[in-house]
Amino acid sequence: MSKKVEGFSKLSKAEKINWITQMHFEDSQKANEILSTYNHSDEKVQKRHDEFIENPIANYYLPLGVAPNFVINGEEYTLPMAIEESSVIAAACNSAKFWASRGGFKTQILGTQKIGQIHFLFDGKATQLQSFFEEKKQILIDSTSPLTANMRQRGGGILDIQLKDKSNLIEDYYQLHLTFDTVDSMGANFINSCLEQIAKTLQSLASDHKAFLNDQNTLEVIMSILSNYVPQCLVQAEVRCAVGTLEDSAGMSGMQFAQKFIQALKIAQKEPYRAVTHNKGIMNGIDAVVIATGNDFRAVEAGVHAYAAREGVYSSLSHAFLEGDEFVFQLKLPLSLGTVGGLTQLHPMVKWSMELLGNPNAKNLMEIVAVAGLAQNFAAVRSLITSGIQKGHMKMHLLNILNQHQASADQKEKALEFFKTHTVTFSAVTDFLKSNP
Ligand code: MEV
Repeated sequence: MSKKVEGFSKLSKAEKINWITQMHFEDSQKANEILSTYNHSDEKVQKRHDEFIENPIANYYLPLGVAPNFVINGEEYTLPMAIEESSVIAAACNSAKFWASRGGFKTQILGTQKIGQIHFLFDGKATQLQSFFEEKKQILIDSTSPLTANMRQRGGGILDIQLKDKSNLIEDYYQLHLTFDTVDSMGANFINSCLEQIAKTLQSLASDHKAFLNDQNTLEVIMSILSNYVPQCLVQAEVRCAVGTLEDSAGMSGMQFAQKFIQALKIAQKEPYRAVTHNKGIMNGIDAVVIATGNDFRAVEAGVHAYAAREGVYSSLSHAFLEGDEFVFQLKLPLSLGTVGGLTQLHPMVKWSMELLGNPNAKNLMEIVAVAGLAQNFAAVRSLITSGIQKGHMKMHLLNILNQHQASADQKEKALEFFKTHTVTFSAVTDFLKSNP
């Protein structure tokens, strides 16, 4: 039977669910039941979620956890983290505690500029286009006035517009490259609306332009879109402490620990295979807070990894070094985040998470998120160069394995006790459950 469907979006939610479960599942009733378990009992809450997207059929839960004891620029925070990976929050908590007793995390905003581009083709002379652009620049910007009024009032707006000749890359290819300050919003809608308006104005000014008409030149807008590469929307997080105070780390002296840590970071700077995993560990912390605060983690991911490859080789986002008798560990990365607009006022859990953080503005949120990344990275590298990652990881994963075996509450309790002193592996847990039915 064909699984193609016409007019699916027009079906009611119940009709969609019926169609899906009957078409794609062996036991449609069971599939239906699972979906209904993941619907919210409060109709208003469910409707809110349903209205976020097209064709909603249920909710997809991620656990929301918290990591207390973060000290950031002298202030205490508990971070909300939405994540499925067992060990991430435990690692964040360890790191937070470790650094809270060593002066905490310090951060710095290095820039807040966002980027948008209008990509177009022009088949005339570059100099002709340049003088047309100079003449019309202000009209292009002014055409967005109604769109930018609110943003300008909040202190943001269009910062700059440049014409870029990219015809060395693709024949006749040019761009209008714009920079924006979107204050506390991530700004995707604002930027895209401005770009589309400017593109329209550009196209219509070009089609009326005498010199272009006489020479029969054409200007064709291909597309207008923000860039998720935001190397000027940058934040740095840092921890530092006297090398001697690293002493308690797994029996190594402070200096031994610092040197091994710095060596691990050097490897992540030079070796892309390691760098990707190293940065993935950073993103464990970053994404968890980004998701909990309702921000666009795909945009953050894309921008961060492009930044990690900005010098032509994919490299570590963090650095560690000695400065006098201090161990310094830093993370610098681009983060385009919002604390107004988007889901922030709509998703009840996002609002909750924002309140937990003291309702930060976008810059504060950039700082908090960067700290989550640095903390996570510290915990991962610390484990890697001391006990190895699996010890802590498998401990945290134990409950998942027990649940996979459908262990009873009694079995779980016994297993948790037993594996305090035994190595967790899938087969060790299987054997344990067999001998403790
Ligand atoms: C696992 O999710 C993340 C790590 O692999 C990060 C790292 O290797 O640095 C532990």
